[in-house]
Amino acid sequence: MTPYPAYVFDAYGTLFDVHSAVARHRGAVGPKAAEISDLWRVKQLEYTWTRTLMGAYRDFREVTAQALDFAAARHGGISAATRGKLLLAYETLDAYPDAKPTLAALKKAGVKTAILSNGTPDMLAKAVASAGMGDLLDASLSIHELRAFKTTPAAYGLVERYLGVAPGDVSFQSSNRWDVAGGVKFGFRGVWINRTDAPEEYADLAPAKTLPGLAGLLEEVARNP
Ligand code: LAC
Repeated sequence: MTPYPAYVFDAYGTLFDVHSAVARHRGAVGPKAAEISDLWRVKQLEYTWTRTLMGAYRDFREVTAQALDFAAARHGGISAATRGKLLLAYETLDAYPDAKPTLAALKKAGVKTAILSNGTPDMLAKAVASAGMGDLLDASLSIHELRAFKTTPAAYGLVERYLGVAPGDVSFQSSNRWDVAGGVKFGFRGVWINRTDAPEEYADLAPAKTLPGLAGLLEEVARNP
C-alpha cells in the first residue's frame, strides 16, 4: 500500500505522555502519585464528554485543572505549590521517544502531518515547542474554536477544513480507543496506538491497524520511499 496523503495525530497520550507531569513531581505528590495521575486523566476525559453533551464548554486547560483537583482530593490532597507545579508541567509534557522520529520519517516521505487535539491552541503550541516538533508538523489543530470536544464529528472535520485533505485520505493515530472510534466513524483510517496493551472495545468502529507504538508506522513509508 502507498502511504496516506495525511497522517493526523492525537496529542495527549499519543505524542505526549500525560503521566510525565506527576512523574516529574512524584515525591511532592506522595505515595498515591500513580493513582492521582490515572484518575486525573480519567476525570479530564469525562469532563470533555459531559461538557460537550451539556453544551457547557470549558477549555481543556480548565477541565485539566478541575480534574486534577478532583483526583487529588480523592487521594488525600496535594499542596497548592504542588498543584501549581503539576499544572505547569502539563504545559510541557514529555514527548514519547517514538514521536519525533516517526514524524520526521513521515515528513521525509512527503506526507502531511498534523495534530488534532482537545488541547487549546496555546497548550498545543507550548507542547510542540517544548518537544521541538514544530518543523515536523504542518498544523496543530485545536477543537477550541468549536467549543466542543472529540468525539463530536465537527472536531474531525477540522482536518479537511485546514489541511484540505478528504477524510478517506487521512490516517488518524490515537492511543485513545474512543478517539480512534470517533475518527473511524468520521471516515478516517484509524490506527490505534495501543501503548498500554488495553483490550479491544468499540468493535463496530474498529481500527484498520493496531500498533504498540508509533514506530510501526515507519514500515508504511519505508516500503514506499
Ligand atoms: C487530545 C486528548 C484526547 O489530545 O488526548 O485530544
